[in-house]
Amino acid sequence: MPNTAGSNSDKKGYNKDSIGNILLVAITVCLLCSIIVAGTAVALKPAQLENRELDIRQNILRAAGLMGAAAQPAEQVNALFEQFSVKLIELETGEYSGAIDPGKFDQLKSTKDPAMSTVLSDDGDPATLRRLEKYALVYLLEGEQGIEKVVLPIRGYGLWGTLYGYVAVANDFDTIDGLTFYSHKETPGLGGEVDNPEWKALWPGVKIYSDGQPAIALVKTRSSTPEQAAFEVDALSGASLTSRGVQNLMRFWLGDRGFGPYLKKLSGESGV
Ligand SMILES: Cc1cc2nc3c(=O)[nH]c(=O)nc-3n(C[C@H](O)[C@H](O)[C@H](O)COP(=O)(O)O)c2cc1C
Repeated sequence: MPNTAGSNSDKKGYNKDSIGNILLVAITVCLLCSIIVAGTAVALKPAQLENRELDIRQNILRAAGLMGAAAQPAEQVNALFEQFSVKLIELETGEYSGAIDPGKFDQLKSTKDPAMSTVLSDDGDPATLRRLEKYALVYLLEGEQGIEKVVLPIRGYGLWGTLYGYVAVANDFDTIDGLTFYSHKETPGLGGEVDNPEWKALWPGVKIYSDGQPAIALVKTRSSTPEQAAFEVDALSGASLTSRGVQNLMRFWLGDRGFGPYLKKLSGESGV
């Protein structure tokens, strides 16, 4: 019997529009697409890791005042970063550690590992970190006279989320040399002003320790006494909560549970 007009069945009764056929085509297309997507993801992974590492390096260079806000070509960033030595320290003791290769250590990831981090109690967690890592990376800029500055990774809660950044400390280990945040969720124009170059320029020269404890303060009005004003930075206007977050995280990371023991050790070694 001849095919009737509009039918997709061939002479042997094969129907292109059968449910089985439609499913087969859909599954084949899905499989092909997943193979393409997975293949592309795998192929792009090395480039992504390279870009992530480049981004980390640029932010460390910015904190150390060796690079401006504009992105630089990879070769230039890598050449500048060559000046740094990257080391692993144990936060509690402030001693260098050979436990893990610094090049392979993911500090933020280690905060998720119960063997590599501890839970912070609410009253011992002013920066709202929840968990504190056992080991941390430090970036040393060394010259002929020894350490010129040390760059340290820092983080802490602002108003809307965690701010991630780096602080550079001068070689008296008691003075801020620079500060930069590379990731945060604060509101542009309010807490987001942590990225404002004019505000960041207020940080170099700020003193860290008073009676052995970090005394950095973000204030609406500077103290009239120079001794007190030495620890102060202008708070961000209309952003008291972000400012309080920055003060808390700076005090935490430069304090006894953060890099305090390490900075004290360096200052003892250098005799300053
Ligand atoms: C939409 C919106 C976004 C805000 N974003 C921030 C912010 O990023 N950081 C901050 O500290 N305050 C932010 N605030 C303001 C706070 O709610 C609060 O009013 C402010 O921190 C008080 O600061 P002040 O004492 O300097 O005025 C925001 C408010 C609104 C309505």
